[in-house]
Amino acid sequence: MHLLERVVKRGFHMLSAPSRTTDKTQTQIGSDRPKLLEVNKWSTSKYLLKLVQVVGVGPYPLDELMLMAAAFEYHRPEIVIDIGTHVGKSARIWFELSKQLQIPVKIHTIDLCDPSHVEYPGRHLGHYIRGLPVEQHIGDGATVARSIIGASPMACFVLFLDGDHSYETVRRELQLCQIIKRGCVLVHDTFYQPGSKYNHGPYLAIQDSLSNLPVKQVVHLQTGLPGMSYLGLD
Ligand SMILES: C[S@@+](CC[C@H](N)C(=O)[O-])C[C@H]1O[C@@H](n2cnc3c(N)ncnc32)[C@H](O)[C@@H]1O
Repeated sequence: MHLLERVVKRGFHMLSAPSRTTDKTQTQIGSDRPKLLEVNKWSTSKYLLKLVQVVGVGPYPLDELMLMAAAFEYHRPEIVIDIGTHVGKSARIWFELSKQLQIPVKIHTIDLCDPSHVEYPGRHLGHYIRGLPVEQHIGDGATVARSIIGASPMACFVLFLDGDHSYETVRRELQLCQIIKRGCVLVHDTFYQPGSKYNHGPYLAIQDSLSNLPVKQVVHLQTGLPGMSYLGLD
């Protein structure tokens, strides 16, 4: 075959078939998977448009959606536990990511559904996940999550904390890291800036818990509020 012919054939192949190497790099699987989470912003940006079309940018702004997507893509969880269902946006995000990345996952979402709670969603509870394969639980997040983890102790989990943002509750929820063997925890509302009136409970709960937890990586989004933090487990 002439050199020119070979070059043309090779060029056509590159145009017509997506490269396996590129796909592997983008989804961070196989031997390319880094030891720690590296938020690949080229890769995760691809999912953002769809997520924003479905859930908007509140309560999770773009950089937080990006961290959620990156953690999901990196860990490829078998089970997601979403504490604080409210209208169901975060649960819907896990569902959309599972669909887009073709990662089959069981999604649980938990809410107190307590009318005396300031964020009681009333009849809008779980609005964004109606009719979707997401299991809704009513109860205290840490208690229900403990029994879900206990039933599948070897599974890979994404545990998402967005319930009561008090220091005490987040510390209690973070103790779940002790029984999760693989996966990560994401905590919402972790903005921290001394002097700010913003609630620092979740951030301080992380700082005060870390020394007793099997956490191998911490990523705090430092771009502003409301803030999100990632804790990578083994
Ligand atoms: C900020 S909202 C969560 C937003 C939700 N993730 C979404 O995407 O729509 C907080 C929710 O957590 C619930 N909540 C508060 N304390 C809780 C607890 N201990 N266990 C489970 N849910 C709780 C509240 O009822 C409220 O609906």
